[in-house]
Amino acid sequence: MPTRSIYLETFGCQMNELDSELVAGQLRSLGYTFTPDQGAADIVLYNTCSVREQAEQKVWSRLGEMKKRKAADPSLVVGVLGCLAERDGHGLMDRMPVVDLMCGPGELDKLPALLDNAVRTRESLAADDPKRAGLRSARLAALQGNSSRRSGTLAAAEDSLELLDLSRSVSPVDVHDGARRSAYVRITRGCNKFCTYCVVPFTRGAEIHRPPNHVVDECKRLADAGVIEITLLGQTVNHYRFELDAALEVDGVVQPQKGRTYKGSHNRDSLAGDRVTTFADLLYRIHEEVPAIKRLRFVTSYPRDFGDDVLEVMRDSPRICRYLHAPAQSGSDSVLARMNRGYSIAEYDEFLDRARHFLHEPEKGRPLMLSGDIIVGFPGETDDDFALTIDLLKRSRYKNCFIFKYSPRPGTVAYDKIPDDVPEQVKRTRNNDLLAVQAEISDSISRQQIGRTFDVYIEGPSKAERKRQGLSKSDIRKAGQVAITVGGHSLEDDLSFSGKGVSGGTGFQPADSGRAGLRPASDTIQLSGRTDGDLIVFIDVPRAQAEILTGSIVPVRITDADRLSLFGELP
Ligand code: 5AD
Ligand code: SF4
Repeated sequence: MPTRSIYLETFGCQMNELDSELVAGQLRSLGYTFTPDQGAADIVLYNTCSVREQAEQKVWSRLGEMKKRKAADPSLVVGVLGCLAERDGHGLMDRMPVVDLMCGPGELDKLPALLDNAVRTRESLAADDPKRAGLRSARLAALQGNSSRRSGTLAAAEDSLELLDLSRSVSPVDVHDGARRSAYVRITRGCNKFCTYCVVPFTRGAEIHRPPNHVVDECKRLADAGVIEITLLGQTVNHYRFELDAALEVDGVVQPQKGRTYKGSHNRDSLAGDRVTTFADLLYRIHEEVPAIKRLRFVTSYPRDFGDDVLEVMRDSPRICRYLHAPAQSGSDSVLARMNRGYSIAEYDEFLDRARHFLHEPEKGRPLMLSGDIIVGFPGETDDDFALTIDLLKRSRYKNCFIFKYSPRPGTVAYDKIPDDVPEQVKRTRNNDLLAVQAEISDSISRQQIGRTFDVYIEGPSKAERKRQGLSKSDIRKAGQVAITVGGHSLEDDLSFSGKGVSGGTGFQPADSGRAGLRPASDTIQLSGRTDGDLIVFIDVPRAQAEILTGSIVPVRITDADRLSLFGELP
């Protein structure tokens, strides 16, 4: 088979970014190549998100754009991967005949077979009768279906999706010429929470936890390949729990384990012993067994069931970041109850207080940084409820907060049972009001850092610097230029997080240094990096130093602050 080139575009969350990376590694090992030029690709794949309507709409418009291309090139294969495929099911293919294949996030291990099939079918149709090629070739889909949440059969069957994670290729080639130093590692898949507004439990299935040895080994392999920063991923990472005595092996591979009803407490999990790995244990193991990982962080924390054991491990482990992403979603108890969040605002406040008590040490250059998610305009949200959310924001003092207008998602409880009764105009106003409140908080947190010294992980030239140099995001180290590719989790992604990481939201985010544009072209280069609390820092360094500093962690003294961006210098 001649080499086929793939254009793969990813929408939505970090989990999707990781899925895309794993899928790309697997397809590459099968002989496919990847191109950033959609027009030159034989196969176009969209890894989609359906958490919010806006994210979905982007995909629909991409698929619309594909119609013309496909008419001109009947052998083109178009595939929809991820949550939208799972949620919309075969209806998606009816609506969009341009789509040849669909693959849900729980079935990505089947993608190579589907793709092979789709390519062959399209090519034979196009060769036999170009007119027929305009018709849909076959319904090629691998979907879990809502009723058969995959892990329901885990006890009986091999979880082949685990093999996709295990097969992760971390060869130097994949880590971009050795320049890549930051990576995601999945610890749990799926979610059992069933918040009434959320599609994730339906699209990603039930919560399951990966065997701790698989996670630790993956971290080691990444470290061996030059990675120094790892972000552990899960919808509710703090629910991680793996019981060795219940572990199942298939063909010598330990299988992931179903999440159980979590009975967390503030104290060290009394049930846990040598035979159980809790989230605290897992963090500790990675920290101790993979010291080459200089930064270990995790997202997302569920604000309940977060034990002191995790906070203690964070406090006592210097390479674990003082950063928590703990979405509150609303500041009103009655809204939280309708959302089925399972905690009260008093409990949420208690959690943040406890986290600060353990982890907030600004005098040591280690303040605790928090970030949050809020949904405005959830059904029934009154002006009083909204005022409580503003109060929550003021108390919580997130460094940044992603703010979303509620959008009803088909298949969720809220979609079926709770009428979307807050007018769009009200949602928009509340969204803007919250953004303004958060902007002030972010600004003041930023200014508090002036005069402090932080260890900063230098990612490479800032966005403004790259613009000035005419470099694209994917440019890699070239002779005489500075390495800018940092891998899956680049600063640029963070900077556009509201549009990319969690598309559709309007999180208050820093503007990449506006003032960089004012600087005259000189022998200095502006680099950007992050503190362990995920604050973004810019430093100007001599051109000759830029390459050496990129990818390393260096102390930086903060001299100025501009909204969320910090500006500093090497001491
Ligand atoms: N409408 C708006 N925001 C939503 N989120 C999840 N579902 C919806 C929805 N239906 C937001 C939540 C979640 C983040 C990833 O997306 O704030 O934390
Ligand atoms: Fe969705 Fe709630 Fe699970 Fe988060 S915890 S993924 S919001 S159901």
